[in-house]
Amino acid sequence: MCGIFAVVNDFKKNAAQTVLAGLKKLEYRGYDSWGIAVKPFSALTLSIDKHIGKIGEAKTNLPKGGIAIGHTRWATHGGVTDLNAHPHLDCNKKIAVIHNGIVENFHKLKKNLLKQKHQFLSETDTEVIAHLIEHYLSPLKNKKMTKSKRQKALIKAVFNTFNQLIGSNAIGILDLETESIIACRNGSPLVVGFDKKNQQFFLASDVPAFLKYTNQVYFLKDGETVLIDKNGIKLFNTKSGKQKEIFFEQLDWQIEDAEKSGFPHFLIKEIYEQKEVIKKIPLINEKMIKNLTKLINHDYKIILLGCGSAFYCALAGKYLFAKAGIKAEAYGANEFLPFVKFVDNKTLILAISQSGETADTLIAVKAAQKNGAKIAAIINARGSSLERLADIVIPVGAGPEIAVVSTKAFTAQLTILYFLAKACQNQFLLGKNQIKKLVDNLNLWLNPHLSNQLIMLAKTLVNEQHIYVVGKNLNFPASLEFALKIKETSYLHAEAFAAGELKHGVITLIQKNTPCFVLASDDEVKNEILSSAAEIKARGGKIIGIAPFDSPEFDQLIKTPDNDELNIIFNIIVGQLLGYYLGIGRGADPDKPRNLAKSVTVK
Ligand code: G6P
Repeated sequence: MCGIFAVVNDFKKNAAQTVLAGLKKLEYRGYDSWGIAVKPFSALTLSIDKHIGKIGEAKTNLPKGGIAIGHTRWATHGGVTDLNAHPHLDCNKKIAVIHNGIVENFHKLKKNLLKQKHQFLSETDTEVIAHLIEHYLSPLKNKKMTKSKRQKALIKAVFNTFNQLIGSNAIGILDLETESIIACRNGSPLVVGFDKKNQQFFLASDVPAFLKYTNQVYFLKDGETVLIDKNGIKLFNTKSGKQKEIFFEQLDWQIEDAEKSGFPHFLIKEIYEQKEVIKKIPLINEKMIKNLTKLINHDYKIILLGCGSAFYCALAGKYLFAKAGIKAEAYGANEFLPFVKFVDNKTLILAISQSGETADTLIAVKAAQKNGAKIAAIINARGSSLERLADIVIPVGAGPEIAVVSTKAFTAQLTILYFLAKACQNQFLLGKNQIKKLVDNLNLWLNPHLSNQLIMLAKTLVNEQHIYVVGKNLNFPASLEFALKIKETSYLHAEAFAAGELKHGVITLIQKNTPCFVLASDDEVKNEILSSAAEIKARGGKIIGIAPFDSPEFDQLIKTPDNDELNIIFNIIVGQLLGYYLGIGRGADPDKPRNLAKSVTVK
């Protein structure tokens, strides 16, 4: 949700172009508009270029310079216009600000600044930040100052400003006079990259933006500020203003993780990467899994939470735990607060999130933590807010997921929950072996032949208005995720129902040739799901079975391998691939569906 990128000491001496390239890697965080500010070598003023629309094909003619900041926007306050695009400037045009988050008290702050005759050019909450910094610097306005004095005054002004902002925010500031960048974090992600070889620094919302140059990173924590200029980097506590030591860590991510590597889109690359990602799950730290199983088996009340795909993963987890004889509840994190009063210090929250930054999930987790709950988090991204809040973190290890819709992170999270459920039953080894079998099956099944089968199927569905998906037990959350993939990537209305629910009302929607996907496994509810298929067929529905077996009820079959409870992974992958090919057929951008953002950091 909004992407921040900045470079200091650009070694190619063309900072605006470096920022443009970095922003293109962050486009998944928002694509309503983009903008860049650079301090040109040849000028004493900042140069700015900002436009509405996606940054993917954008070019900029900004002049050469060594320091620049940029932003891709997912609009919250103020419409999608050039003027509302970031960066925003103070009245003197010396301070450029980019921002990810919402300044909840911006109306009040703006009112005061307007009284002091500050001129606003946009409707955004962000512009308030630039003017507030200017306000704190105003006593020094006409004084001649050395760069180091100005820098000291500036950082104080930034502390004063940022400490007044209410809400989850991350900001980046480019100061013309001192040629420095200051960035503060509270609730929205920020990471610094240090390219030692070329002595250049990057600031970004996410690592893939600068992975081309370095994997040496520092994830800012809430309440921290960095000051970066050509002399280096300083880290501060934003509240006290005290400087602290900064230590960079080395990530094991490779440059290929942030590239399409020959695939036409990240989405299809990430769908295929599931083979490799799932392969790593049995290698997860055994001690950590066993420690968690001790808690689960120790009378803790188990609550699974997540949003979007992560919620469906939570729901599937509830079924997996039930199969293992463990009672668990699952909630969409955005609907959890009415139930938080039932949380106490004997509750274990299993929070599921790709990004670890979803505001609704963080709010739910914080509320549960306040009531004494222990938090275990299953997170893919590194250095997130959720990672910091959690008592136990299970890293998903899927690598950067760049397509907006979740695929490899989702199936990896689901496989981890399966592993955990098996471990709770003292079947750690069996779990490991089943996951190995899953990987072998994926290697054989997830191939161009399957893709071709789904391309053909997508061609027959491309002009449909509605698609229905049904499943029972574990295949119910799988159906929800299947339908979500189709909606997100192709904008085709796909609706999932619990198979047993169908006859209680929604069967009215079935007409002659209505496409209905039936997700089935060779399990204890096989016959029941086939009965539901028969009920749909009797009303003229066209049945497409996704199953490891054929049946007379199916008009068409997409055959999957057979892999106990893990069968749902194949069923979901069919939805991922179908969504992808339908999206292409319907002219959508599979990597960046309209109106969505990868990481929703606002309520
Ligand atoms: C957004 C994305 C979804 C994602 C959800 C939760 O809505 O568009 O694809 O499932 O956030 O994200 P998280 O990072 O918490 O898994």
